[in-house]
Order: sequence, then structure tokens, then C-alpha cells
Amino acid sequence: MEVIIKADYKQMSAEAAARIADLVYHQPNAVLGLATGSTPLGLYKELIRLHRDDGLDFSKVITFNLDEYVGLPASHEQSYNYFMKDNLFDHINVNPSNIHVPNGMASDIEAYCLWYEDEIEAYGGIDLQILGIGSDGHIAFNEPASSLGSRTRLKTLTKQTIDDNARFFDDPTEVPHYAITMGVGTIMEAKTCILLASGKGKADTVAKAIEGPVTALITASALQLHPDAVFILDEEAASSLELHDYYQWVYENKPE
Ligand code: F6R
Repeated sequence: MEVIIKADYKQMSAEAAARIADLVYHQPNAVLGLATGSTPLGLYKELIRLHRDDGLDFSKVITFNLDEYVGLPASHEQSYNYFMKDNLFDHINVNPSNIHVPNGMASDIEAYCLWYEDEIEAYGGIDLQILGIGSDGHIAFNEPASSLGSRTRLKTLTKQTIDDNARFFDDPTEVPHYAITMGVGTIMEAKTCILLASGKGKADTVAKAIEGPVTALITASALQLHPDAVFILDEEAASSLELHDYYQWVYENKPE
């Protein structure tokens, strides 16, 4: 596990974007796993800039998003389908037929989730998965007590997640209570996982995920078992880490 601490949100976002750009440059048909929420917005802005100014080519890239609210059509402004179009896909040259965001309106959710898993497998698995972390320690919508072996499925959101996400909705009572989410087991099969976290509000949860026990109560802690997991944090999100200085030292003294 690698812990990279950057001075601020902008540098955190730039580091993640540089890693994606490097992968796409060397492997134009890379399979990217993408997240929504506030945290990756700076990363997506930087990818759009790299596409516009440096010609970073997404035409062969395949994408799979982590999750989607159940009951929101792709046209709904708070759906994750809409978020991804608005904040990334409409501004780069990704081929629409290569984009996969779960369908929150699927009529048979169980069958749909099985299809989503098969589709990831059909593309050879996810090369690089971007993750945020919820204040309850979740990755994707794998809420506390989710099985660490779970696969894509329907999940009931916690009160805390519903409250956290109410900030995006005009009417807080409109926040859906269910989501389709990749499982922890699905995420753990990605070749590389990059978790981004920013701000003081995430500091204690980040410390539990990195330095606490591996537990289904903080599903991000499962990344401790991943062979190539990278946490990219800003100073505030890293501020509760016991080994903060050691992670900095390791990063600065990395062998070439
Ligand atoms: C979103 C997702 C969630 C968020 C997490 C943090 O696709 O999977 O796990 O990454 O809730 O959200 P923000 O970044 O808004 O704090």
C-alpha cells in the first residue's frame, strides 16, 4: 500500500490525473473504473485539460462507474450518469459505446448486476480504479458491514450517506435510499486502486482505513489487502495518520 500526501486538493488531483494519463498513453485501450462525488472533480477537470491542451486520447478507453442511485433516470441531474456526462464524458473524446455507468432504472436489478460483472470481465477487468471514501468508510456504496467479498448488487444506503449526499439535492427528501454498486470483491479485482481523499472531515476515516484493522465496518480498509493500492491524500485528509511522516519519507526516498 502506498500513501502519498500532497499539499492541497489541486496537487492531489494532478497526481491522480498524471497516473491516469500515463496509463492511457501506454495502454490506449485501458479499462478505467471511475467514481462520482465531490472528490474526483479536480481530477476530471485536469483530465479534460490534458485532453484539450496535450491531446490525451480517450477514444479507445473503456470506462466502468462504481455506482448509481436506484430510481433516477440518466437524465436526472443528480444521477451519476448525468454527473459523469456533465463533468467528464462530454468534454473528452471517449466513445459513448465504451462508457458503462450502472442503470438505476433497470427493471431486473439482480440480472442487471450479473450482466455488469460479466461486462467488466469481458473487457479483461479494470486496469485502474478511482475511489473516494465516504465519511462512514465506504468505497463505492459498500456501506458498513458489506461483505468484503461482495459483488455488484443492490445496496441500502445508510442514514449518514443519505445525509451526506443531501447537499446535492434541492429537496433532501429526494435522496434515493438504494443504489446499485460494485462490490468490495469487484473493486479488489482491479489491477490498481487509487483512493482520493481531501479535507479535514475525512481525516479520521482515512486513518481508520489505512492504519486500523481490516474490517467490514470500514470497507475502504479492505484495500490493505490489495496488491497495488495507492491512497492520494491532501494534508488535511492525512492529518490523523499516525505514520504521516513515515509515508512522506518513503515517498521522498522512493528508489528510481
Ligand atoms: C461515488 C462513490 C462514493 C464516494 C464517496 C465520497 O461514486 O462511490 O463512494 O466516492 O461517498 O464522496 P465525496 O467525494 O462526495 O466525499
